[in-house]
Amino acid sequence: MSRTLREITGETRLTAENFVLPYFVRTGSNSEVPIKSMPGISQFTVDRLIADMEEPVKNGLRAVLLFGLPDKKNSEGSSAWDSRGPVPAALRAIKKYYPEVVTMADVCMCEYTDHGHCGPLTETKLGEITVDNDKALLLHARIATAYAEAGADVVAPSGMMDGVVGAIREKLDQSGFIDTTIMAYSAKYASSFYGPFRDAAESPPKSGDRKTYQMSPMNSREALREVELDIEEGADIVMVKPALAYLDIIRMVRDEFILPVAAYNVSGEYSMLKAAIEKNWLSYDAVAETLLSIRRAGADIIISYFAREIFKEDSLIDVYRHSR
Ligand code: PBG
Repeated sequence: MSRTLREITGETRLTAENFVLPYFVRTGSNSEVPIKSMPGISQFTVDRLIADMEEPVKNGLRAVLLFGLPDKKNSEGSSAWDSRGPVPAALRAIKKYYPEVVTMADVCMCEYTDHGHCGPLTETKLGEITVDNDKALLLHARIATAYAEAGADVVAPSGMMDGVVGAIREKLDQSGFIDTTIMAYSAKYASSFYGPFRDAAESPPKSGDRKTYQMSPMNSREALREVELDIEEGADIVMVKPALAYLDIIRMVRDEFILPVAAYNVSGEYSMLKAAIEKNWLSYDAVAETLLSIRRAGADIIISYFAREIFKEDSLIDVYRHSR
């Protein structure tokens, strides 16, 4: 079969519109700090982020997802809602320089708290230290509103706290941001594939882990329940994360619900392919094949660090670029 015929008859394809590129934003200026465990990915200050986006945007990149690295961390994570923080600053700059790009902002506190958990901590009656859910909800709503004010089109609560989507929707609506979209990390598994991200975002939990609020890899039906709850609370886009070890979950969610489904091709999934390709153990074609599997499983939106390579001038990844 010729290449053209293969393309005409192909059931699934990767298009530029499918991709969201995550960025790690630092405070300060004129600095780019490569992330050791994620070859090709860096933390950028806002000025360098704007410069870095030029090539991918020219080649069809449509959306970015921002993570912030604050100057200071404290027990409350209060720099998360500071309008001068790295994420609001980046949102304003992107809206100014690339008004056509969709801006998404991750709403979480683990990068902002000194203990690395996704909300302020409290002690239960039994003496266990745990995230104070009620307080965390109010703070997440406050962070989401600060991001909407700075120009976020989409806010993405990633902590998977019970009630967080509803709390954010209510506060956004009250503040007049009725059009701000919520992309919920609905089915988020407690995964070792987040390892390199915790390097990148400087956010490993100082003690304990996130297993109490992230899903067990043993479960799949629970994912449907989590998605259902988030939709009831007002989610506009639902997410499955990670993608590769959870392709079955992506398919289940796609079949069960009508909302757009996003899949997060997470840091560890990126790094393991990059490592094998660097060693010449795998050919670069493995990247497109992997991304296609996520599309075939049913994801409408793929959040992937590979988007940086897809939208390079000399990209080796075969996607149908919108701008061409
Ligand atoms: C939480 C968050 C994490 C990721 C995205 N948002 C880390 C975690 O839950 O520990 C992981 C993304 C990746 O691994 O690429 N703010």
